[in-house]
Amino acid sequence: MSHVKNFPTGFFWGAASSANQFEGGWNEGGKGVNTADIITNQKDGFLRLTTPQIDSDKYYYPSHEASDFYHNYKEDIKLFSEMGLNSFRMSIAWARVFPNGDDECPNEEGLKFYDNVFDELKKYDIEPIVTISHYEAPLNLAIKYGGWRNRALINLYVKYCDTIFRRYKDKVKHWLTFNEINCLTVSFGAITAGAMIISDEENTEEVRFQALHHQFVASALAVKLGHEINPDFKIGCMIAYMCGYPSTCNPMDILKAQQHDQMKNMLCGDVQVRGYYPSFAKRYFEENNINIVVEENDVEILKNGTVDLYSLSYYMTNCVGTDASKDKASGNLIVGLKNPYLKASEWGWQIDPEGLRWVLNNVYDRYQIPIMIVENGLGAEDIVDENNQVNDDYRIEYLRRHIEQMSEAIKDGVNLIGYTPWSCMDLVSLSGGEMKKRYGFIYVDKDNDGNGTLKRIKKKSFYWYKQIIEQNGII
Ligand code: BG6
Repeated sequence: MSHVKNFPTGFFWGAASSANQFEGGWNEGGKGVNTADIITNQKDGFLRLTTPQIDSDKYYYPSHEASDFYHNYKEDIKLFSEMGLNSFRMSIAWARVFPNGDDECPNEEGLKFYDNVFDELKKYDIEPIVTISHYEAPLNLAIKYGGWRNRALINLYVKYCDTIFRRYKDKVKHWLTFNEINCLTVSFGAITAGAMIISDEENTEEVRFQALHHQFVASALAVKLGHEINPDFKIGCMIAYMCGYPSTCNPMDILKAQQHDQMKNMLCGDVQVRGYYPSFAKRYFEENNINIVVEENDVEILKNGTVDLYSLSYYMTNCVGTDASKDKASGNLIVGLKNPYLKASEWGWQIDPEGLRWVLNNVYDRYQIPIMIVENGLGAEDIVDENNQVNDDYRIEYLRRHIEQMSEAIKDGVNLIGYTPWSCMDLVSLSGGEMKKRYGFIYVDKDNDGNGTLKRIKKKSFYWYKQIIEQNGII
């Protein structure tokens, strides 16, 4: 029994979700089609620009119903309250507010839906932490504008922010501008996050870094605007921390790991927290012939729109090295090299609680602003037993070990203010569109093909987490 007693009063103990993986109601209440809505559950199920039409006879689209929070939000929020959550990370579906992204007026019914959700959360004293764009954008923005590679998206995003900031200014205080914004530094997220629907040939670093630059500018403008609308707003960046250890003590591997950390993790933090591009990025762009258009005002905009808090997702770590023949390990957003000291999840993601302490210290040393862990969790294939119970001891073990390391980081002096593990209840997995890869504290009866009653069952981890929250982290 270890005793973890040092979590600050008011610590955000929550759980996380995203609209396109959780909400459902994809074509209800005047919502437009999101980029996520045309993704099927096939492993390579991304439909491209040539076929953006929904063909439900031919394909199954997991986001369309997802876990159906849209119709069950009252019951679900009641369950969150029973679990003791004092915060809930969710995202707003942009196309529910602006169905085409470039509409003149917002969709009132969509805005009302989130009013209802926030009011319901308030009823139970659950603080919403809202991601403004979590791997989606109205599909029209991809088709008509080519997604974030087009500078026009900046103003459309800021208009969307202006609408939701004003509407919810007394209901939401914590905002995150883009989920895992650094996914654009790797190939994977280009389609969903960039809302670009690009062909493989177009998926170049130059296009992705240009899109990323537009998101940086949009984020900075949103931060400034948010503070004008409500000075109490706390607005954060959200980085997928892709921790890559050197695979050996060969200085070449150490350097390679440092460069990985700089370009994959630090670049986005530096721009969003410090307000300017770091010098290593400039060298990288030059050496790789990446020419992005940065307008004159952009430098000023980035400087004036720095975030109040740094949020991150952390699931696993990999190794980075010069010997490419070494065994590969999969992971969140990137594939790296295997680490012989770590065990992996069923999906091959290497479990590394101590790595979380390292990451928290690394980030805090550099930025010195409050940190929130807004995603962390274990994807596993849960089984409902004959007593209708889910004994997910492996998930408890994973979370317990990570919470212990959070505690150690707090003792190191890190200003960690919240933890919203992935996920509040089972939802669609991002990488494969599966339901089988479950993360929730609450089981949702649904399979990979969309069959099931959607019935909710509290897992063993539900009761365990409730106790952790009640005791403010004492394990
Ligand atoms: C993060 C995303 O990268 O990882 C989530 O922000 C995602 O949307 C989570 O669900 C887990 O990944 P996956 O692919 O296992 O669902």
